[in-house]
Amino acid sequence: PIDEPTAIILYGGTGDLAKRMVLPAIYELYTRGLLPKQFRLIGNGRGDVSHENFQQHIHDVLTEFADAPDEEQYAEFAKNVKFAGGGFREDNPGSLLDVIKEAEDELGTDVALIHYMAIPPQAFEATTKAVKAHDLAKNAKAVYEKPYGESLQSFHELDDLVHSVFEEEQVYRIDHFLGKEATQNLYLTRFANRLFGDVWCRDSIAQVQIDVPETLDVSDRADFYDATGAMLDMLVTHLFQVAAEVALEPPISMADEDVQNARESVIAAFRPLSPDEVVLGQYRSYTDIEGVPDDSQTETFVAARLWVDTDRWQGVPFLLRTGKMLATSAQRVSLILKPADGPLKHVPANANAIVFDLKGNGAIDVQLTVKKPGPDAVPAASATSLMLQNVAEGAMAPYTSLIHDVLSGNRMLFTSSAGLQSAFEAFQPMLTDARPKIELYDDGSWGPQAAEDLTNGVGWLIEH
Ligand code: BG6
Repeated sequence: PIDEPTAIILYGGTGDLAKRMVLPAIYELYTRGLLPKQFRLIGNGRGDVSHENFQQHIHDVLTEFADAPDEEQYAEFAKNVKFAGGGFREDNPGSLLDVIKEAEDELGTDVALIHYMAIPPQAFEATTKAVKAHDLAKNAKAVYEKPYGESLQSFHELDDLVHSVFEEEQVYRIDHFLGKEATQNLYLTRFANRLFGDVWCRDSIAQVQIDVPETLDVSDRADFYDATGAMLDMLVTHLFQVAAEVALEPPISMADEDVQNARESVIAAFRPLSPDEVVLGQYRSYTDIEGVPDDSQTETFVAARLWVDTDRWQGVPFLLRTGKMLATSAQRVSLILKPADGPLKHVPANANAIVFDLKGNGAIDVQLTVKKPGPDAVPAASATSLMLQNVAEGAMAPYTSLIHDVLSGNRMLFTSSAGLQSAFEAFQPMLTDARPKIELYDDGSWGPQAAEDLTNGVGWLIEH
């Protein structure tokens, strides 16, 4: 348990992200006994919400997005929940300072602060400046959502500002794909099992696919989405981080820092994206959404062929794909092996693969060619699947697990300045005039045809 008295200040406390992800995660930590014994959860926002109303709001949110809470337990939790309205700005702190002061009176002046920025990226700057102006950076940590920057330049501007307020060790840039059980298995299974580790390179791997199609539309968060787009929402963020987890070189040890460094440093080897290896799309009904301009050029789909310029991955394409309103929802990382040498070398190229299924509690599938039962030696495609929940109970949702890491000061699964700089360097060509045109695709389809062509005839594994 983490014993230091702590106040979590949740900026954007009544917003969408808080509702779906952060509040359920904080409550899950509470019910598991993983919050500090003495804590306060302080919601912040522009509106004037009473403490009681915010407590009720969280109750409603849990009922809608998680499990309805046990009433008695929730009542205990709610005693620690406050709301500080009136926003939080350099020139006007609203009521936040008073609410923090109250918490200090009750829990002691050394109460640790966690500034959780569950706010739109455009508001990171003003809130960070306000933290500085009101002297709230001491004994504090800050959690930033994504996208943390939109280009190399805006990344540097934000990061310089953040570093003028916090030391890097205080900063937690959250990317919840890194908190998924299955992504954490990408390196664990590789380093623990020769069966995986020995094939994890260009000698055996034909290509890597990181495929996250979604059937979701974005009508409930059109403002955020239209200003962000699939590339910033998913590609430079989640998909690049997962690609780094596949591509990293073995760290010297499994110590937090060593693993974080290995993951973040391989991003420097990502070759800047070549616009002719990127496909952008927009689903046909996207501009019908209220709040989306008719001429919006925001991409709701991106597929890219990424090259990792390390010796290990020379010549192995990393194919990344994600989009909204597609034919299915899935989150898979597939390492597709090359055809075998020898008498069965004609077995198709995508018949042997190691597949990490990131959704839910996660799974690892091994796709194999085996002998078809029967009189003749005929090869047949088959697969075996390991559900991670069967290994042991107790998996936590990614946000729960990552917020727990924030509380305990474990930064292994958070992105670093250096890593994000490299990510934006690789992304930079997409911000030039060479950026490909957006192709429309039918709702419920697999996106633009051109995305199929990126796979060099292998096809996207999920579709087969
Ligand atoms: C979020 C993106 O970070 O991740 C969403 O903003 C996306 O657009 C979501 O749908 C996918 O997350 P999950 O929880 O389904 O893994």
